[in-house]
Amino acid sequence: MTIQPPDYGFYGELADWWPLISPPEEYTEEAAFFASVFASAPIPVREVLELGSGGGHNAFHLKSSYRMTLTDLSAPMLAVSRKLNPECEHILGDMRNLRLGRLFDAVFVHDAVAYMTSESDLRKVIETAFVHCRPGGVALFVPDDTSESFVAGSDCGGYDAPDGRGARYLEWSHAPIEGSNLSLTDYSFLLRNADGAVKVFHETHRLGLFSRQLWLQLIDEAGFSAIVVPESMTEDRSPREMFLGNKPLSS
Ligand SMILES: C[S@@+](CC[C@H](N)C(=O)[O-])C[C@H]1O[C@@H](n2cnc3c(N)ncnc32)[C@H](O)[C@@H]1O
Repeated sequence: MTIQPPDYGFYGELADWWPLISPPEEYTEEAAFFASVFASAPIPVREVLELGSGGGHNAFHLKSSYRMTLTDLSAPMLAVSRKLNPECEHILGDMRNLRLGRLFDAVFVHDAVAYMTSESDLRKVIETAFVHCRPGGVALFVPDDTSESFVAGSDCGGYDAPDGRGARYLEWSHAPIEGSNLSLTDYSFLLRNADGAVKVFHETHRLGLFSRQLWLQLIDEAGFSAIVVPESMTEDRSPREMFLGNKPLSS
């Protein structure tokens, strides 16, 4: 299968800016929580496959405890992650059809799963997780939102680098499109080069929203036993609902 280039400039021509948009330090607490969920598996978790690992900012924290295999559809994002996580294996691939022919103790799918915009694509990702998960292992899915939790709104942020580069962004999520499981998010970026020149970039992302019940159903149907894991954290934001699939020891 031919891997398509990423559709979004955010993960293509802008990939190098990712560490200034959403720096690894922001992932410290959540990564520790994900590790505590992996620890609930009946087998020891040592090898973790991440689908849609992006710039590898979760992996940056998880790699001290696990051997991480990082996969993403975007070669530029994998290049960013390779710089941060040179000790991790990086593989270009689509989470809907990646087949490595290897088993892992845990499969991890973070915010990249939002790019699944249909039930059939979501089912494919869960199937990918199942075929790579060792019996007794777990698959952890961490969507930013479900249909129930989604709230339209905006957010902004960005950071400066010591070399003078800087990035600022505005993220504006709109109410789901009537009668669909899709929401649109507009991103605008102001990106300052080290020489002070600033460029502006805008694009709209199509993101999928799925109900809690559908998540649980698809994870069960893939062969896992699914549960909801509520996030526990101190950060000033709404806790997410995650979905954990336990793969039976006998499968
Ligand atoms: C917000 S970034 C992920 C950031 C990541 N959580 C981190 O720790 O840096 C979203 C990623 O999803 C990836 N992506 C989107 N669709 C994908 C697919 N079908 N298969 C694999 N990766 C995909 C994009 O290329 C992008 O790198």
